[in-house]
Amino acid sequence: MSALTSKVAVITGGSSGIGLATAWAFIAEGAFAISADINAPEDDQIDFVKTDVTDPDSLKHMVDTVVAKYGHIDALVANAGVAEEKADVADLDEANWQKVIDINLTGVVFTNKYVVQQMAKQDTGGSVVNMSSILGVVGGPKSQAYSAAKAGVANFTKSQAVTYASRNIRFNAVAPGYVNTPLLKTLPKATTDAMVGKMPIGRLAEPEEIANVIVFLSSAKASFVTGAIVSVDGGYTAQ
Ligand SMILES: NC(=O)c1ccc[n+]([C@@H]2O[C@H](COP(=O)([O-])OP(=O)(O)OC[C@H]3O[C@@H](n4cnc5c(N)ncnc54)[C@H](O)[C@@H]3O)[C@@H](O)[C@H]2O)c1
Repeated sequence: MSALTSKVAVITGGSSGIGLATAWAFIAEGAFAISADINAPEDDQIDFVKTDVTDPDSLKHMVDTVVAKYGHIDALVANAGVAEEKADVADLDEANWQKVIDINLTGVVFTNKYVVQQMAKQDTGGSVVNMSSILGVVGGPKSQAYSAAKAGVANFTKSQAVTYASRNIRFNAVAPGYVNTPLLKTLPKATTDAMVGKMPIGRLAEPEEIANVIVFLSSAKASFVTGAIVSVDGGYTAQ
């Protein structure tokens, strides 16, 4: 029996890319996986609660819905995120800045708030894995809100890890390099070609590779890991 058998995992942005692969990886371990996303997954085998991570009422509704159906929440993967329009800061589009910060940073914090409230009420511990990025670790060219948000997620996660360690709620973040998902398809081809050149493994990572790390961090096997920022798929260390 897996350490995750019958555990309940909420994955924001679980309807696509890394989040969808993570939902399947939890299911493979015998866990229940719920995608909390603005969009339904194409695959209706994944349980889904329509959720906007920027909206506290939507998050509260999601937690209530999951608890009404499953009784508890054991794991959160705060993964929902969007790409940004790259530009020099002198040409920053204020509305785009706000949108990316709202989803990629504030959305992670709000999701942590409402799910951790529930975990604390259950008093049975839990695991949170937040989605950072290699761009939150090193500076990427013309990346503003995205780099700032992902660095914010990493340090927010470390802060929560030390706050909740004594209550057995573990917080980790993952910081992938470039991953072959629909998010990259929103970028110009020249940009994605350049990304491959920066990957030491010589290719984009596949979503399943990141999902396996997330599920490991969510499992009891990783109970000693708290506050780690895990850089996956051989992410580069310099531009
Ligand atoms: N693809 C990469 O190269 C890469 C690298 C590092 C980190 N990441 C991060 O991984 C996460 C997942 O990205 P992906 O590449 O799988 O992208 P994706 O576009 O395939 O999936 C993102 C999901 O987030 C959902 N989403 C967007 N806004 C939302 C909102 N307001 N509320 C709820 N859900 C929302 C989308 O509907 C989508 O299902 C993101 O946080 C991204 O920044 C991606």
